[in-house]
Amino acid sequence: MKDKLIEIIKEAGVILKDGYYSKKDVSFKAKKDLVTKYDVAVENFLKEKFEKEFSDFNVIAEESDNTNKVFSNSIIVDPIDGTTNFVNKLPHTAISVGVYKNKKPFIGIVYNPILDELYTAVVGEGAFCNGEKIEVSDENDFQKSLLSTGFPYTSGTCEDDLNDVIEKIKKILPKCQDIRRLGSAALDLCYVARGVYEGYYEMNLKAWDVSAGLIILQEAGGKVSNIDGNEYVLFENKYIVASNNKIHNELIKNLNQ
Ligand code: IPD
Ligand code: CA
Ligand code: CA
Ligand code: CA
Repeated sequence: MKDKLIEIIKEAGVILKDGYYSKKDVSFKAKKDLVTKYDVAVENFLKEKFEKEFSDFNVIAEESDNTNKVFSNSIIVDPIDGTTNFVNKLPHTAISVGVYKNKKPFIGIVYNPILDELYTAVVGEGAFCNGEKIEVSDENDFQKSLLSTGFPYTSGTCEDDLNDVIEKIKKILPKCQDIRRLGSAALDLCYVARGVYEGYYEMNLKAWDVSAGLIILQEAGGKVSNIDGNEYVLFENKYIVASNNKIHNELIKNLNQ
């Protein structure tokens, strides 16, 4: 299944890449939540191919699906993760596809066609970038850890969420090396998997933002949890916390201070 998925996702990557270098009309789903015809085109392409090739899987995808549950067999698709980057030509944007079999993580693929980075993982077989094995960083000193986060779209309309973002940064920033906000949750998780970041946290993500990245990160030796340190459940938890494993407890402790 993995090879067929990669073949289809690479074809979809051509649509993303063409769009990236074209002039785009932007629509707003909400105050900060953008969508373009390319999000829809990539999604339609993937949905059609996946439904034909993998008919025993339900395809759940951002632009056409408001389902908030994982079926027994699901392919959870974000056609363009990092749409704001895509629109502004910041090359941190990717297609994300997570496959769940009997409700359990099975395959994760994140593809950035602009930088030509293909992250892949099958549960139990390790994680790879362009075919090379990747692993999380060895750093276990929180003060030396580079973290990443994201700002929820709701920070434009919901004061509680905005305050929560600010409070968490106040707690974490003095204690770590620094914090990045690059604008693609799927790639943020892959960057922890690759050892670029030691940790990552974000609130209000949807299943398609993280369905693939969390599989890739876990296969690279990382850890994913909710903000209590317990199992992160797709569609359910407000916060995702991810790390190289070594700083996980400290990250959780600092986020909850
Ligand atoms: C967004 C990105 C971003 C995160 C947002 C997501 P989209 O996805 O992953 O990094 O901060 O919360 O919604 O809308 O570009 O697919
Ligand atoms: Ca979106
Ligand atoms: Ca997304
Ligand atoms: Ca998206």
